This record gives sequence, structure tokens and C-alpha cells, in this order.
Amino acid sequence: MSSNTNARQSWKVPASIISKRTSNPIRAIVDHIKVKPNVNKSMISLALGDPTLFGNFKIHQTCTDAVSKQLHSYKSNGYPPSTGYIHARQAVADKFTLPEAPLVAQDVIITSGCSGALDMCIGVLCNEGDNILLPRPGFSLYQTLADSKGVEVRYYDLLPENNWEMDLKQLESLIDERTATVVMNNPSNPCGSVFRKQHLLDFLAVCERNHLPVIADEIYCDLVFSGNEFFPLASLTTTVPVLAVGGLAKKYLVPGWRVGWIFIHDRNNIFNAEVREGLNSLSQLILGSNSLIQAALPDILHKTDPAFYDETRIQLEANAKLSTDILSKVPGLKVIVPQGAMYVMISINVAEFKDIENDIVFTEKLLGEESVMCLPGSVFQCPNFIRIVFTSPPEVLQDAYTRMAEFCARHHV
Ligand SMILES: Cc1ncc(COP(=O)(O)O)c(C=O)c1O
Repeated sequence: MSSNTNARQSWKVPASIISKRTSNPIRAIVDHIKVKPNVNKSMISLALGDPTLFGNFKIHQTCTDAVSKQLHSYKSNGYPPSTGYIHARQAVADKFTLPEAPLVAQDVIITSGCSGALDMCIGVLCNEGDNILLPRPGFSLYQTLADSKGVEVRYYDLLPENNWEMDLKQLESLIDERTATVVMNNPSNPCGSVFRKQHLLDFLAVCERNHLPVIADEIYCDLVFSGNEFFPLASLTTTVPVLAVGGLAKKYLVPGWRVGWIFIHDRNNIFNAEVREGLNSLSQLILGSNSLIQAALPDILHKTDPAFYDETRIQLEANAKLSTDILSKVPGLKVIVPQGAMYVMISINVAEFKDIENDIVFTEKLLGEESVMCLPGSVFQCPNFIRIVFTSPPEVLQDAYTRMAEFCARHHV
């Protein structure tokens, strides 16, 4: 039998370059932790940013009813348009439009979670070989997406001594002619910080001077604690084009439902038809998010009792306070007081410990001795910090923090 001499001549099937350069920095570090939890103590994980894990953060009945209604209507089982059902886009636009940052249905794209939104935003603004500015510490998916697309990552620092505000001087110094965009995240994962209005205005001034479009990750919008206020970035500028991303995952406590969105804020037509068309093309790669949840969006967004949002925030704030109150008294640790979201970053003064040389060793030993798991700051490019997710029930947090305090006391010089 003759064979095609241009074809592959043997069964050698390598994985693609894109797949090889796609990796999750969290897995790269956490998978190397070989220490096993202490079998004599129950395991407590403070590592996962999933508010559903313990059942103490309850979703609102409106959300379950809304999805159930769609399920039983048999009308939402087909393919939605790749950018989302128009009534779902309209409902999102109506919910989030502001006089200072107006939105119509055509400015909204429904995506597969906020991760899907980030993928499309980075994909539409960056070419291979361009560079992108990312926050350090920051959500690790940004780097994963950039690496996967062959986009060079340049980190700008967030300053713990300034409530994790952006180092704008350093940020500006990183920009060159191949800088395609900057990602900012407010409120922040992993920092739990909320930016002041003036700081956002200063950031926008840098973007304006350098003609830099922004990807604003606002998935934790409104999850802010007393004394802080959330300002959507797009509401503070009429000139800088902003792709803002968000979704149901955090505010509505349903990360598994995989519905997110992109808001195209472009009052001066800088993105113009090309970027909109580009987003439309990218949405066709996976044909958007699932039909049932997007069909339920009008009810979820517009019928949920406003008290639900307050209750979630109050519950989070109480946990944030409990975390700060206990951990700030532990010698060797310094808590950077959280202002929002569901995270707190804690600095470890390694000089005060006799046998803990960095955040990874701290995390490993804490797991091995106390069965308490948190993420080392290194996974967020921020060594000698640890990140704690404070969504567990208060009694679980109390238990975990007591064990951490005992652990620190044992290892303190
Ligand atoms: C800052 C930030 N952006 C985006 C996401 C992704 O959200 P989703 O679960 O909707 O993909 C997360 C999830 O933890 C996050 O912390």
C-alpha cells in the first residue's frame, strides 16, 4: 500500500507549544508541597476562593427559582448567540449602567465565567510578542493567559505599606511601544484591598498619557467593607477605553454557574468596530456561556432582594475583622487589614522565626504540623506573605487561627 510521503512518518504526536506554555503558577508551587497534613488534626483549608465550600454563605432563593423556571420552561435548551441572549445582555446592561458610564445591551458580552471574559479581553487586545502590565501580587490566571498567548508579562507592584495601591511611577516606567494593555483588579484578589477614588484617577492619568487601554477586573465589585467605597473604573473617565469584566461568581456566590461578562466602555470610539468585532469573533470559539443561567440573568439581577447583598457583605466583614483581630496579635505576623473581597494577605517576618526561611516553608510546616492550608504569597509573585480566604464559618476560622498562633509561637526565636 502506498503512503503519502509528505505525511507524518511515525506515531509521534507531541502536545502543542501553546499547551506547553500554559501553566497555572498555583499548581506549579502547591503541587510541589510534599508534606502531608497532620493526621491527628482535622484539615482546614483557607486556600480556595470559593465561598460555597462550607455552606455558610447561602445563595438567594431568587437565583435557584430563576434557574428552575428556565429549566422547566424548556425554552432555554438551545444554542444562545455566542455573545449571549439579547435579553440577558440587556438585563446586565440595565443593572450596571451608570450616568457616568452608560451601557446598552450591545456593550455587554456574556462569557463563560469571568475567566472567559479575561481570556477574550487579553486575546482581543494583545498580539504575540506584545507585552501586558499585570499587578504583583495578582490573580494568577492573568499570567497563565498571557503566557499561553505568547504575550510578555511585565509586573507592576502593589505596595503593602500603602494599602496595596499601585506603584504608578514604576507602572509607567514599564510601558513601551509594545505595551498592549494593563490589567487592574479592584477590589483585589489576593490583597483584599479597595482603591481610593483619587488613586484610580491617578492611574487613569497614566493610562491617558500613554494611550493605554485598561482591562478592569471588577469581579469583587461592591464586596467592600465599612469606610470604603467601590468606584467602577469606567465611571471615572470619559477618555480612556476600558474593558471591565465581572460575573456572578462572587457577589451571587455561584462560581460553578460559570457566567461572567465584559462591558465595553468606549465613549470616544477608540476601540471602534474592530475591537467589538474581535470580541465577537473570539466569543465564537466556545459559543459563550451556558444557556440556562444566562436566561435566568434578568431575574437573578433584578429580583434578588437588595438585603442579600448587605447580608453577604456584613458576613464577610465580620470574618475579616475576626481574622485581623486574632492574627494581628500573633508575633511574627503582620496583617494588612482587608478592605473588601474575601482575602487577607499576611506578611511573615522570617527574621523572627528560627527555622522558617520563606513563605513556602511556612505553608508546608503549617500544613504538616497543624493541618491548616493557606497559599504562599509566591504563587501571587509576592514572597514572604501568605493569603488567607476568610469565607469559612467563624468557629472554623477561630480554630485555624488558634493553631496558627501556636505554630508561630513554637517556631518563634
Ligand atoms: C480577581 C479574579 N478575577 C477573575 C476570577 C475568575 O472568576 P470566574 O470564576 O467567574 O471565572 C477570579 C476567581 O477567583 C478572581 O479572583
